[in-house]
Amino acid sequence: MDLVAVIVVAIWVMLPAYIPNNVAVVVGGGRPIDGGRSLGGARLLGDGKTWRGTLGGIAAGVVVALALNAVEPTVVDWTGVAVPTFSVAATVALPTGALLGDMAASFVKRRLGHERGSSVPGLDQYDLVIGSLVLVAVVDWAWVVDAVTLPVLIAIVVLTPVLHRGTNVAAYLLGLKEVPW
Ligand code: CTP
Ligand code: MG
Repeated sequence: MDLVAVIVVAIWVMLPAYIPNNVAVVVGGGRPIDGGRSLGGARLLGDGKTWRGTLGGIAAGVVVALALNAVEPTVVDWTGVAVPTFSVAATVALPTGALLGDMAASFVKRRLGHERGSSVPGLDQYDLVIGSLVLVAVVDWAWVVDAVTLPVLIAIVVLTPVLHRGTNVAAYLLGLKEVPW
């Protein structure tokens, strides 16, 4: 696979994991998942992790994976890049794992005393990558081995902070996020 193909596959594979966080920003709000509960003086997760944002984000990620599956033959035809289809398990696990990773990061941030919306470089960028890839590896190892080759994994690690920065600045400029990270 040449470099362009690796990059295309990396973005393709991660789209169902990237989209949920962005959709959560738009549809989020209402009842927080932690129900307002605290642990050791700080919120368990905080008001930034809501049921609406989580369920809406997962639904959006599933729709994205289904849509990519639908256009996959056409994309392969036109570009010659062997983008993978998403198994049913991967379709559900990529968005769910992404938001679980994001939630785990909030849990860690609250334990370290960081306020909601604070930036923790590294954690903010890779929480969803680790969450989505770990969950999909647990539920469909064969799919991961096939779709996420080592070059694709490296491309994901390199591209994620760039895409993360870009979408967050855009969401901030659109007034969807209070901080540009
Ligand atoms: N959001 C949500 N549910 C989620 C994730 C995000 O409702 N599971 C919404 C919230 O409105 C949140 C916004 O998306 O404020 C931005 O998400 P994120 O940056 O992950 O949350 P923060 O508000 O920055 O909170 P934290 O410090 O806990 O990351
Ligand atoms: Mg945040």
